[in-house]
Amino acid sequence: MGNKISRRQLLRTGALLAGGLPIASGLLGKAQASPLYHSEGGEVFPESGMTVAGSKVWTEREIALNAPPELKARLFANENPFGPSDKAKKAIMDAMPKSYQYPFMFLQNIYQQIADHEGIKPENILMGAGSSPLLMASAIYFSKPGGNIISGDPSYEDLPSKAARFNEKWIKVPLTNEYTLDLDAMEKAIDGNTGLVYICNPNNPTGTVVDAEKLRAFCERVSKRVTVFVDEAYIDYMEDPAGMTMVGGVKAGQNIIVARTFSKLHGFAGLRVGYIMAQPEMVKKLENYTEGPMSISATSLQAAIVSYGDKEFLQEALKKTLASRDYLYEVLKKEGYTYIPSHTNFVLFPIKMDGEHFVSEMMKRGVGVRSWKLNNSNNWCRVSIGRMDEMEAFAAAFKELS
Ligand SMILES: Cc1ncc(COP(=O)(O)O)c(C=O)c1O
Repeated sequence: MGNKISRRQLLRTGALLAGGLPIASGLLGKAQASPLYHSEGGEVFPESGMTVAGSKVWTEREIALNAPPELKARLFANENPFGPSDKAKKAIMDAMPKSYQYPFMFLQNIYQQIADHEGIKPENILMGAGSSPLLMASAIYFSKPGGNIISGDPSYEDLPSKAARFNEKWIKVPLTNEYTLDLDAMEKAIDGNTGLVYICNPNNPTGTVVDAEKLRAFCERVSKRVTVFVDEAYIDYMEDPAGMTMVGGVKAGQNIIVARTFSKLHGFAGLRVGYIMAQPEMVKKLENYTEGPMSISATSLQAAIVSYGDKEFLQEALKKTLASRDYLYEVLKKEGYTYIPSHTNFVLFPIKMDGEHFVSEMMKRGVGVRSWKLNNSNNWCRVSIGRMDEMEAFAAAFKELS
């Protein structure tokens, strides 16, 4: 059963809820009306959260589906509420009349744009409707019965958890004392059955980064033994993305895959555009397991082409995010809390009560956040960085609980 919850369990949870256990408000009422809850296989929430000491850690999808409509602050999914840019929105409106056409001609355009910017060739790129389908393609391609995948713990679980469906083992390597990926330990964990090493940098949910030079040396060395997947979903929030990216390894012909997404700083989470960069042969192999760019709508593609060059918007969104993040740091300090300094649009910090109880109490106050498990405790909160009014709503609710 592991990280999944069955329908029977859900109903049992419902019985407990009726008895007054704390839970995100409205969870069960909506749950039974939602088609997600009628899976014939008996399992609901395919990528459900972990169970920690008997209490469940809800996923973003679960929180989103069960959030009250009057949510004051949506701070559970690391989205960018400052986007998409006005130019991207206009591009969508302009593209609408011809959206009865397949999007072939826009693909060449955006592949070339990314290739020129990164100093690679269009053959090095594979796009998808968000980076998730490309993570999925990699999960399938690099898995085999008896195989294993290596990731940090905690880290973004999408790729390794999907690989675990087809692999024998998911090797989770604990973070260092500084909450960064432990590259040395990850390298040591590689064995003859390892299909892929998944590096999320900056790491979700900690917001930490590994030293760029160290990671570069790691990629160069380790990629000779096994493919290294570097997920750079949050790199746009860093001071020097060009100095931090591992795309140089792709240029140098290394056996690495670098993933990016428009879902974060570009504000495209609902528009769904992402890409990976790798050797052309690797791109061809992964193409076998995904619809790739033909799964992206013509409207989203044209918006992405405009957003990619909209430096003014990106700088402004970054500035506002950093101001909101600084404000959050001050609130936490004032209330006597510590936090892990973040290089991203989310912050992880230890709380003083059970994580799910905290999530539930914040939700009752109209603020959606996530709890997380770290160091064998689920008393951690991950709060995404939103607009200032959302951070103020977070602060008001948080003060009542702290
Ligand atoms: C580290 C990381 N990679 C990939 C994704 C997937 O993003 P998308 O499919 O929207 O591109 C996310 C989403 O939150 C993420 O946190």
